Amino acid sequence: MSPNKNHLNALIECLEIPSISSSPKHKLELEHCAKWLQSFCKEHQFEKCEIIKTNGHPIVYFKHGQNPNKPTVLIYGHYDVQPEDPVDLWNSPPFSPTIKNNFIYARGASDNKGQFMCHLLAIAELIKSNAELPVNIIGLIEGEEEIGSPNLAPFIKEHQDKLNADLVLISDTPMFAKEQPSICTSLRGLVYVKFTIKSAETDAHSGQHGGLAPNAIIDCAQLLSKLKNEAGIIQIPGLYDDVESLSNDKKNTLNELPYSKENYCKTLGLKSTYGEETNHPYERLWYRPSLDIHGIEGGFNGEGSKTVIPKECSAAFSIRLVANQKSEHVKEQVTQFLLDNCPAHCEITINHHHSAEPVSISENAFGIATAKKALNTVFKKAPVLHGEGGSIPVVETFQKELGLNSILVGLNFQDDNIHAPNERFCLTQFEKGVEFSKEFLLNIEKESNV
Ligand code: BES
Ligand code: MN
Repeated sequence: MSPNKNHLNALIECLEIPSISSSPKHKLELEHCAKWLQSFCKEHQFEKCEIIKTNGHPIVYFKHGQNPNKPTVLIYGHYDVQPEDPVDLWNSPPFSPTIKNNFIYARGASDNKGQFMCHLLAIAELIKSNAELPVNIIGLIEGEEEIGSPNLAPFIKEHQDKLNADLVLISDTPMFAKEQPSICTSLRGLVYVKFTIKSAETDAHSGQHGGLAPNAIIDCAQLLSKLKNEAGIIQIPGLYDDVESLSNDKKNTLNELPYSKENYCKTLGLKSTYGEETNHPYERLWYRPSLDIHGIEGGFNGEGSKTVIPKECSAAFSIRLVANQKSEHVKEQVTQFLLDNCPAHCEITINHHHSAEPVSISENAFGIATAKKALNTVFKKAPVLHGEGGSIPVVETFQKELGLNSILVGLNFQDDNIHAPNERFCLTQFEKGVEFSKEFLLNIEKESNV
């Protein structure tokens, strides 16, 4: 399938905007991207499109059709992207979309601009075809997903009247495998923590003071190393209390999905996998908590050498949560653990960043059957149901506040480098994504009538 020029041009324009939500430096770029989306909707005759200001980055809200006898599909996406660094590792500039071997390379190509644009382009085409749409459409494209959607939940709670829908359609997860269309029915949650350990008021000469003065980096490293044992089991007391063991049924479905350790290791360049070896790899990725350290900062590691005892050290880590775990409770457990294990001669400051709740979606939810059919039509292969280990904070908000299930149909490949250098999106997937979205929107009415 060769890419449609209009589709591609729209995607390129959107990818050129560096809408990085995590740094205040890019505030105007986020506004620019929201405006770009609004003009896209206007140009393609969406009935209504507004930019909604928040305490953070704006939300783009659009609407097309309001026939009470038709089902309403709420489309969610996020126009914010992750930072591009380390920029030296990109083969082309992250905000100059570059096409190579049928892939478009740019920050946000898969996560999430390329994917939500499939839905916007599908709607634009359906409107252009002049046929009366069998559905009403509402769109919510936010600018803060990558920082935990802090302003979206309050908006949803306050404006339920604007969000009267029957289901949510989201493409913000990867497809299970190349040539294997899929629907994702579970996402992990997240608790993200930063802390700083301080062991002195000043840095000191390590010869003059080593042996008597504590070293903040060693204290920090020892504290971090207590988070997990050598087998990869998280050591925070009570952390696994709410984790349910998988039913045999569920285990069997995992065994039916293809998995190759060799291929997995190859994609990431691993010598081996690590962790709870007795559990199925997909159970470890989707249905077990995990803990990872993201960064450690402190002391001196520049060119040359410096014999110093650093006075402080900070670290960032996060825990992925699974069904039944609650982020608030896990935050308390983490805080207690850090306080209990911080050496007495140090001061610790703990900062909880964003969090997300885990979610699971019933395989009988409204929309799953239509998504299966539409995927089958477009990809010529029956889709599988799978879980994913990443998080999308709003999915649980939709469930809790609006009682709506999200149909998560991933379109990008597992190795499209999201959050990493050389993020990309396959142009064939892009075109198939537009086709899928049209099929879904044209057929959802039938499912609501049975
Ligand atoms: N698109 C991802 C979520 C995702 C990635 C789901 C891979 C499944 C597999 C999303 O944009 C994302 O990165 N979410 C953050 C959420 C966080 C900032 C609250 C994540 O998972 O780290
Ligand atoms: Mn992301």
